[in-house]
Amino acid sequence: MKIIPKPESITMLEGDFVFSGSTQIVGLDDFLMNDINSFIDLKDGDKNSCVFTLSKIEEDYRIEIGENIYVIANNREGIYHAIQTLKLLILEYYKNEYSYIPCCIIEDNYKYEYRGFMLDVCRHYYPISTLKKIINSISLLKMNKLHLHLSDDQGFRIQLNRFPLLTDIGSKRNGTRGDGIPVSGFYTQAEIIDLVKYAKDRFVEIIPEIDLPGHTSALIASYPDLHCKGKEIEVEEYFGIVENVVCAGKENTYKMLEDIIGELANLFPSKYFHIGGDEAPKTQWMECEDCKETMKKNGLKTYMDLQSYFTNRIITYLKSINKAPIVWNEAYHDGKLDKVANIQFWADGLKCKNIKNALEEGYPLIYSNNKYCYLDHPYSSLSLKKTIKAQNDMISLSDYGDIVGIETPLWTEWIKDESKLFKMMFPRTLAIADVAWSKSTIDYKEFRNRAANSLNALFIYDIEGSGIRQSNPDCITSLFESIFFYGRMIDKKLGRTIKNYKNIRK
Ligand code: ACM
Ligand code: ZN
Repeated sequence: MKIIPKPESITMLEGDFVFSGSTQIVGLDDFLMNDINSFIDLKDGDKNSCVFTLSKIEEDYRIEIGENIYVIANNREGIYHAIQTLKLLILEYYKNEYSYIPCCIIEDNYKYEYRGFMLDVCRHYYPISTLKKIINSISLLKMNKLHLHLSDDQGFRIQLNRFPLLTDIGSKRNGTRGDGIPVSGFYTQAEIIDLVKYAKDRFVEIIPEIDLPGHTSALIASYPDLHCKGKEIEVEEYFGIVENVVCAGKENTYKMLEDIIGELANLFPSKYFHIGGDEAPKTQWMECEDCKETMKKNGLKTYMDLQSYFTNRIITYLKSINKAPIVWNEAYHDGKLDKVANIQFWADGLKCKNIKNALEEGYPLIYSNNKYCYLDHPYSSLSLKKTIKAQNDMISLSDYGDIVGIETPLWTEWIKDESKLFKMMFPRTLAIADVAWSKSTIDYKEFRNRAANSLNALFIYDIEGSGIRQSNPDCITSLFESIFFYGRMIDKKLGRTIKNYKNIRK
């Protein structure tokens, strides 16, 4: 049976169940009824029933398909998951204009509680309609977190009533890498409220991210007081690592960031709030009297210590409003980070202290190792076959501590439109969904066999991913794809990124 993510167990039985206009579907509200009906052809046929019941069971859901279908789940979310499984089966076995499903028993449960996808809407803006398609697609795959990267050097993308300049100035840039074509866009609060509800109906939680203290050119362009020296800058149009960071010494910074986060937190009911922490060069802090004074007053020896101090202050505020912080792994430094922080692991090695230490010290970890999870990477670096290997990497890390789940980020420096976005997202997100949910070891060939059915289901949501073959390019295609992808990064600001990179861990 071609189901992604792979269910925990399937026991095949004799015969088929046939959905028809005479099938009685019992136990669903209108929303869930519409969801399953969108996949069923209601032709004349025999009377039978498909009954959904809430009851205490060990699994997330259980489906028994015989003369009738009986679905049991612990809660409405489990029922929703069962419906997604049924939809894929209906599609797989559809023939002669009838929706058949072979009789079987499916018992299913998830491995990781956190099953996420991240979209960077700063480098390029995507309308709400695209975000809704993403929610449709990830919820079909039983993924339950959509992380929105809302603030970066290249744009600030959400309306805040208390800080109108964040959108009047911060949501617009003059061009991209000197092309002279303006880029702008932001989500109104009304749009966000509608989106959060849309996601909640599909059991997806939206997690906002305001990246701090680095990747903040759009924030500083809007409110220069946030800069150590009050410098007036423009929203950045080149990519890479920029020296602009918010001042960690001035009290005014903390007051303003708390106000920004506070207003945002009211819009997103998620228990999580992501405060970034990646790639923050210390260049400006080294020249700032306020930052130096704060270091002295608090006995901080290095600028990395100042980043820990800064992050912990924001975390203290998040705790006061009942939000669980998530940070990128660079914010973890020498055990100084507040233990409540969930660390999102994207890059180990030179850029951060060994992630295994963080696990051993008891920090909960969200796995997003760029080697297996970064969907902006071309298929030549991250093929579909390689994406599945995230499972092995996670298993070996889990010896050291608590892995909450997995999230696959899609950065959009090189992705300007929806069609390209979905080509990068799929089919690799199918692999991530399998890794996030399935407790069994995933064999690539067996996974590939299931993948085409899910790609077909995505067509129903107007989403066209890359083909399976394209997503495992041969050597020659890979070579050209890599030359094109990495060659494009060479621009007049590459030297700036290299220089700033050296100042991250000071
Ligand atoms: C990141 O990719 N800089 C989190
Ligand atoms: Zn400063």
